[in-house]
Amino acid sequence: AFDLSAHLHHYVAPHVLVVPYPAQGHTNPALSVAKFLADNGISITLVQATNGLLPQIPSHSVHGNQALKIFRKETIPSGLDHSKPLSGAVLKVSFDVMRAALRELLQKLMLEENPPICLLIDSFFGWGNDIAVEFGLSRVDLWTSSATTFYLGIHVQDLVTRGFIPATEEGAKEKIVDFLPGLSPLRVADMPQNLIPEEGLQSGMFIRFRSVIQSAKWADRILINTMYELDTNVIECLRREDHIHIDPVGPLHVDVMSVAPNSSVSLVQQDDHCLSLLDRQQQSSVLYCAFGSLASIDENVVAELAHGLEASGESFLWVIRPDKYKNNASVEEILPEGFMERTRDRGLVISWAPQLSVLGHSSVGAFLTHCGWNSVLESLSNGVPMLGFPQMAEQNTNLKLIVHDWKVGLPLLQQEVNTQKVERKHVQRAITAIMRGDEGLQIRMRAREWKEIAEKAIHGSSKDNLQKLVDDLKQGKL
Ligand code: UDX
Repeated sequence: AFDLSAHLHHYVAPHVLVVPYPAQGHTNPALSVAKFLADNGISITLVQATNGLLPQIPSHSVHGNQALKIFRKETIPSGLDHSKPLSGAVLKVSFDVMRAALRELLQKLMLEENPPICLLIDSFFGWGNDIAVEFGLSRVDLWTSSATTFYLGIHVQDLVTRGFIPATEEGAKEKIVDFLPGLSPLRVADMPQNLIPEEGLQSGMFIRFRSVIQSAKWADRILINTMYELDTNVIECLRREDHIHIDPVGPLHVDVMSVAPNSSVSLVQQDDHCLSLLDRQQQSSVLYCAFGSLASIDENVVAELAHGLEASGESFLWVIRPDKYKNNASVEEILPEGFMERTRDRGLVISWAPQLSVLGHSSVGAFLTHCGWNSVLESLSNGVPMLGFPQMAEQNTNLKLIVHDWKVGLPLLQQEVNTQKVERKHVQRAITAIMRGDEGLQIRMRAREWKEIAEKAIHGSSKDNLQKLVDDLKQGKL
């Protein structure tokens, strides 16, 4: 008789080395993919940088399927200098350190019994290709931002040739980019900031972004944290016209193998107390305000937000991170005098939230967000309308998509308002519009439709693409 156990005995799990960029918004989606692979019989070594932009991931949270015991973690230094602001130069040093350390680690791993066959690496590094080639590994990239940002990056040369970038001349940012198939027209001002730097084409960030995208193009496969249903036209154009093997596998925040939803790693201790407070609020009555893990909001702006929020009369849950302010000031010191007292019966300020659970709570009516890509996906897939207040990177591009393409949110400040000058009356007006206005109501209904679409993608199109990755690894196609 056929002895299955004898065959199983010889099965060697394909070994994948997973290298996330050490920031919250990059590491969470990478972990989610790693867990899916581990739960499906792929051996995973997760490489985490020490001293990165998030603390060490506790081992128990990454073991995925304990029974398989194929999840192991290695550390390399991030090389980040936290005494300096995050700039192109600081990133370059850090990337060089990480790259050298990763090479050293691979030299060791390649001598082991079951060496890695595939490098699954964040596109953001830009040097995944060199390492993969040097060690003879296949390479899967993970792109943790929107498809539109990726697509614009792929067409950076066309944008230069057609005179859209650099957008340094007067009025250049008002031009409309409408020549790219599959992409809805957008203002140059709405492009990712790395593509339209003040310093023009010599900007370090521009050069870096360009080389990252060029390198991503050569990956054997690119996994992107979005869903096919959200970015269908752009994904199709990337595949058909640009011949890029790109597979949407998002939203990646929820573990596709239905591990507890908030198994994601958090930067600082979460304040779970806020959930029991939310339990006591009415449906869709609370405005959740949070600006991700990297942005720091100027104290004057915080004051205007606070006054606008107070004047709106709405209930709120607001994440303010004291570590982003001088001398770790207390929230009372950061906020306008008496604000906490005056809003005590309807507002709560905490330093870090269990965001996924908050956005999944029925009491939350809208999300005042910086439009970081993970926050956008989390909001969208929980059916929560957004009020967008972009701070940096590609967050303005994300806001354009939220407002004009998917119609699931409003800008906190109208286009003509200078973002440097946040005024309380604008804040109040926007909060009232999203929480109570007719437009807000329409948006809420549309957001609920997206929630259903996201649920389908998690168990359908995105899961299929992850499963295809598993199958291809097992069949030696990668
Ligand atoms: C950054 C960029 O801002 C973003 O645009 C880019 O796409 C990725 O890198 P970040 O600023 O951290 O990320 O924002 P975001 O992408 O929204 O990620 C933040 C993560 O932290 C989310 O998963 C969110 O759920 C989590 N979070 C945030 C919490 O768990 N608690 C909080 O209080 C705030």
